[in-house]
Amino acid sequence: MAVFSIQRYPSSVLSQHSTEVAQINGKAAKLLNDLVDTMYASNGIGLAAPQIGILQRAIVIDTDSESRGKHLLKIINPEIVESSGSVVWEEGCLSVVNYTAEVTRARHVLVRGWTIEHKEIQLEASDLLAVCLQHEIDHLDGRLFVDRISSLKRGLYRKRLLRQARDGEVDIDLSGKWPGAL
Ligand code: CO
Repeated sequence: MAVFSIQRYPSSVLSQHSTEVAQINGKAAKLLNDLVDTMYASNGIGLAAPQIGILQRAIVIDTDSESRGKHLLKIINPEIVESSGSVVWEEGCLSVVNYTAEVTRARHVLVRGWTIEHKEIQLEASDLLAVCLQHEIDHLDGRLFVDRISSLKRGLYRKRLLRQARDGEVDIDLSGKWPGAL
């Protein structure tokens, strides 16, 4: 079992674009297992590789926190091929400390990707699972849910985070640049 430390906003790795996994091999399998271990250790329902500092297109999701593993998804090179409808969800993220906000996303998505068994999969999802898939795939494109809220709300959150970091209430690295415009 390998639990990694999770990159936290405003770490610059979180705003970078991840590259496709070129080969589905043992290394990719290890990455997915590391993501699962880290997600469960943090009580998360989803995790993307950039969150553990690896800029590769791999995500894991398990929205069923009652019976872990039963509905676990491990997807390589996931891609949204269709989306429809709209839903507002209160989102949080293991990389965004002490904050949640309402985000508007597609209610239904069709996602294509690959399993570690070299099987191409197509997944239809709605509501929570659809939101999760969009949130995790966003990570692969260097986007966080705080990039999808108003700049006013984001600015207020940054101010609070900065104050909490200075007061030693949260442990984040402020040496990097704040991504996006202030
Ligand atoms: Co997240």
